[in-house]
Amino acid sequence: MIKIKKFTETDYEFEEIARIRNLINHDSIDHPDYDKDDWAMRDKSLIRDRLLLYDENKLIAILYYVQGREENKRTCFFNIVLDPSYNGNQYRETLYQQMLNQIKQFNCNKLYSNIYEHANYQNYQKLLINHNFKLVQTNREYSSDIRQINTKKYQSLIDKLESEGIKFYDSKYQMQEFPNHFQKLEELEWIIDQDVPIPDGMNHTRTPFNRWKKQCIDFYNDCYGVHIVAVQNGEYIGCTDIEVLPKAEPHKGWTGTLGVIRKFRRRGIAIALKIKAIEGLLKKGVTEVRTDNEENNPMYKINVELGFKAVPFSLEYMKGI
Ligand SMILES: CC(C)(COP(=O)(O)OP(=O)(O)OC[C@H]1O[C@@H](n2cnc3c(N)ncnc32)[C@H](O)[C@@H]1OP(=O)(O)O)[C@@H](O)C(=O)NCCC(=O)NCCS
Repeated sequence: MIKIKKFTETDYEFEEIARIRNLINHDSIDHPDYDKDDWAMRDKSLIRDRLLLYDENKLIAILYYVQGREENKRTCFFNIVLDPSYNGNQYRETLYQQMLNQIKQFNCNKLYSNIYEHANYQNYQKLLINHNFKLVQTNREYSSDIRQINTKKYQSLIDKLESEGIKFYDSKYQMQEFPNHFQKLEELEWIIDQDVPIPDGMNHTRTPFNRWKKQCIDFYNDCYGVHIVAVQNGEYIGCTDIEVLPKAEPHKGWTGTLGVIRKFRRRGIAIALKIKAIEGLLKKGVTEVRTDNEENNPMYKINVELGFKAVPFSLEYMKGI
């Protein structure tokens, strides 16, 4: 008997969700504790839920959805993960239809989902295409064995930038006592974020400061890889953040964002930030870094220059309803 049940936030559910996700993940490993932390940290002002599909008492699929923030408040971000041994039974469709019913509560008019260009996601991609979702953004995905990167080659660039008054600091260990550190960092991240390409029809939205700060402290405490900030005369001008999830994959760093404010671009600051971050990660025993960027973003040239290797692309799909 197949049945959709309500998500009740039990440890058993978090463990089972990680088990199902790990049947699909092609280059990452989920650990239930991180999912549990994310759920506890979620912004409760946004409508968010999970639909769990059971075969008798065995979890076989999950649909996640969350309402967007502010200008995106009528957009629903969702994803479906199904145990592959249950493919071919329309189970994703069952969950999708249930979600369509539930998201009427926020007057949803747009749906967004994403996949990787990898065999494990092909059945889900078919569902999106059958429902007339359109491909709206393609992202290059990269991985690097950072032990192979010749960081010394870039020392003269870093020396040159430092001689021009641009200093590179580790945000967690060197900057927390700087005047207005958190305000300046949030402002910098918001300026950069607005320049990161997103699909037409989506809006960049600013996370309220207190919430942003809570997430930043959580990053410092639970999944800190490294966070390098470039500073000139007290002005924060560029940064990159990389997470490491020690309970899941302690050897691997996941890049969040890397950006430089406009008037400082094309001086090598992005490369320097990346090299500083890699040096910091190597000291902690991290050996691999994953990153991604929209296919035409110049960031890919930097990744290629550093020897990052392409791994399956990620594809973003959208549909108006
Ligand atoms: C992408 C970004 C970080 C580059 O920062 P930057 O400090 O200007 O980059 P660098 O000076 O280190 O550039 C190194 C090389 O990358 C390439 N590059 C960087 N920006 C480029 C651009 N706009 N057009 C073409 N090539 C570019 C060039 O090969 C450049 O070398 P060159 O200047 O000698 O030709 C910056 O444009 C940015 O912040 N963009 C918005 C945020 C974003 O999209 N981040 C990436 C996704 S998270």
